[in-house]
Amino acid sequence: MNIIVTGGAGFIGSNFIYYMLKKHPSDRIICVDKLTYAGNLETLEAAMEKKNFKFIRADIADRQAVYRIFEQEKPDIVVNFAAESHVDRSIENPEIFLQTNVIGTSVLLDACRKYGIDRYHQVSTDEVYGDLPLDRPDLFFTEETNLKTSSPYSASKAGADLL
Ligand SMILES: NC(=O)c1ccc[n+]([C@@H]2O[C@H](COP(=O)([O-])OP(=O)(O)OC[C@H]3O[C@@H](n4cnc5c(N)ncnc54)[C@H](O)[C@@H]3O)[C@@H](O)[C@H]2O)c1
Repeated sequence: MNIIVTGGAGFIGSNFIYYMLKKHPSDRIICVDKLTYAGNLETLEAAMEKKNFKFIRADIADRQAVYRIFEQEKPDIVVNFAAESHVDRSIENPEIFLQTNVIGTSVLLDACRKYGIDRYHQVSTDEVYGDLPLDRPDLFFTEETNLKTSSPYSASKAGADLL
């Protein structure tokens, strides 16, 4: 299977890529990452040596680039880790969070519809549900919990989830 993993040069995406390469060695992983300040290509050095791994530098909000990648790589599955992910930065400069997290997700979903991809995983965050008190370990969120965003970061992630 061909699996597109976006944001794979970041913290969680890179760990997911190594997990998949080990656990599913017959699958092909195509990492799509813009390499913002948060992306680090060095973390993928060992993956680059594998025949079933490919890195493509691209912005998930760039519709033409994303469609081209889907046409060339013919993914069966798409896993979207790509995001602006730091809360403090979202308060200083919200726009790039809306661009990547909302528009980028929307472009990926459109690409999945256009190219008939049935399986798409959106990586969200617990922050869409707000905060839990530290002294109440008995409380927890479920997917039925109401959304209660508290920053442009969590608002943009909730927007992506709703799409
Ligand atoms: N780290 C956490 O504690 C945490 C917790 C909950 C959810 N999440 C979610 O998990 C996902 C991964 O988080 P992380 O901590 O690995 O993030 P990260 O900031 O370490 O990595 C994000 C990656 O996305 C890439 N990227 C950013 N904008 C892009 C764009 N427009 N197009 C393509 N690539 C782009 C960056 O270059 C980087 O490699 C995010 O969706 C985040 O919201 C993270």
